[in-house]
This record gives sequence, structure tokens and C-alpha cells, in this order.
Amino acid sequence: MNEQIEAYAKRLKLSWIRENYHTVEAEGQQEYLLKLFEREVENREERKTNLLLKQAQLPKTGNQPFQWEHIQIPQGIDRTTVLNGDFTNEKENLILYGGVGTGKTYLATLVSLNAIHRFGSQIKFYTVASLVNKLIDANKQGTLSKLMKQIEKLDLLVLDELGYIPLHKEGAELLFQVISMCYENKSIIITTNLQFGQWNHVFGDPILTEAVIDRLIHHSHLLLFTGDSFRYKESLLHE
Ligand SMILES: Nc1ncnc2c1ncn2[C@@H]1O[C@H](COP(=O)(O)OP(=O)(O)O)[C@@H](O)[C@H]1O
Ligand SMILES: [Mg+2]
Repeated sequence: MNEQIEAYAKRLKLSWIRENYHTVEAEGQQEYLLKLFEREVENREERKTNLLLKQAQLPKTGNQPFQWEHIQIPQGIDRTTVLNGDFTNEKENLILYGGVGTGKTYLATLVSLNAIHRFGSQIKFYTVASLVNKLIDANKQGTLSKLMKQIEKLDLLVLDELGYIPLHKEGAELLFQVISMCYENKSIIITTNLQFGQWNHVFGDPILTEAVIDRLIHHSHLLLFTGDSFRYKESLLHE
């Protein structure tokens, strides 16, 4: 009989039940069945979350609470809506602007974690440099449309560190394609050390830059990170 149970559970893709049904204790039939279903669903959700986390490729973070003291939030959004990732349901964007070590990457990562846990969002974290390299590579290999489709499936695209490296023409155009595709379809978080006025230096072409900013700014919230570097503060603490 055990073999049959396992075979049926396998056909029904009840993998937790298949492996664990004999360990569940209950008062009666109904309670037993309820426990089986509960654990199967829990286990499935856990596996789904783990897969989403793996796919997102978020940077490792500490677990200190996020400090908002030196962050200016515009009207129309609040800390909770930002941190919980609620803005992604409206397909809105965040632009996190400020100096090094002020928490931009940390906030983008925390938002991503929350959106995965709360909504089961599909997210991918890239540095701008790594995405652009990947796009150029894919273009060479003839797999650009495949990569674009992968990005199109996401709920949230994180582009970290816009501004550290100027892009070549091809890279800038491909990045523009990605941003255009996301426009009004999904959320983007961009972290940057450059004001919009300087984005020219990244995209290299004023018309392209204007088109990028035009797409982004439409449904975006610009957060200003005005604090001192936490890295610096932390290194002082550890001296
Ligand atoms: N606002 C903040 N609240 C809590 N910790 C922070 C904050 N900002 C920075 N940190 C800490 O400093 C580290 C570096 O910040 P990071 O997000 O990498 O800065 P940025 O991306 O702006 O250069 C983070 O991993 C975190 O440990
Ligand atoms: Mg960073």
C-alpha cells in the first residue's frame, strides 16, 4: 500500500506528502488530511520563495534595521510603501540617488526581499555594468531576444550603480531598450551617484539620455540619500 500511496502522490506532484505522510500524527481522518494539505502547501511556498530568491541574485546583506534619518522621501510615497515593495504593484519606479555607502544598495535589496516574501515577485538584481556586459554578449551570440524575454517576465528589475562607468554606444542603446521595455510594464529600482543632469556622461548621447530619463521619471519616486557613508562609520566603530 505504501508504494501505491507514494506513486499517487508522485503523480499528483505532492512531494512533501509523498516523503512525509507517515510521520504526520492526528486525532482523526479529517485532521490528518488537513495536516497533510497544510504542510504540502507550506512546503511548496517555501520552495517557491527559495527559487525566487535564487533567481533574484541579491547581494548579501547584514540584518541591521534600515535607518531612514538621512533619506529624503518625496511626497506621494512613504517609508512603508517603499520598504514593503508596495509601489511594485502600481508598476512604479524608485530612483535612489546619493553618495557611496549611504544605503542605496541595501535599501534596494531589502525592498526586493520583502517583495519576494510578500508577493512572490520575480526579481533580478544587476549592476548596470553586469547587465550591459550581458546584453552586449547576448547581442553577439544572437541570444538577445531570449535575454529580453527573461527580463520581460520580471516584476521588478534592480539596476545598481548607474554612473560609475560610462557606457559605449552599443551598451547605452541596449540599456535603453531594456528601460523602454520596462516602461509602464514593471518596476525598476535604479541606484545612482549622479544627478539626472549628469546622466549624459553615462549614456554618452544627449538625445538618448533624455529619452531614458523621460521613460523613467514618469512613474518614479526619487529618494535622496544625504548621509555620510555607513562604511566609513562602521570602519570607525571597529577601530
Ligand atoms: N540607511 C542605512 N541603514 C542601515 N544600514 C545601512 C544604511 N546605509 C548603509 N548601511 C550599511 O552600510 C552598508 C553599505 O551600504 P550600501 O547600501 O552598500 O551603500 P551604497 O549602495 O549607497 O553605496 C550596507 O550594507 C549596510 O550594512
Ligand atoms: Mg551600492
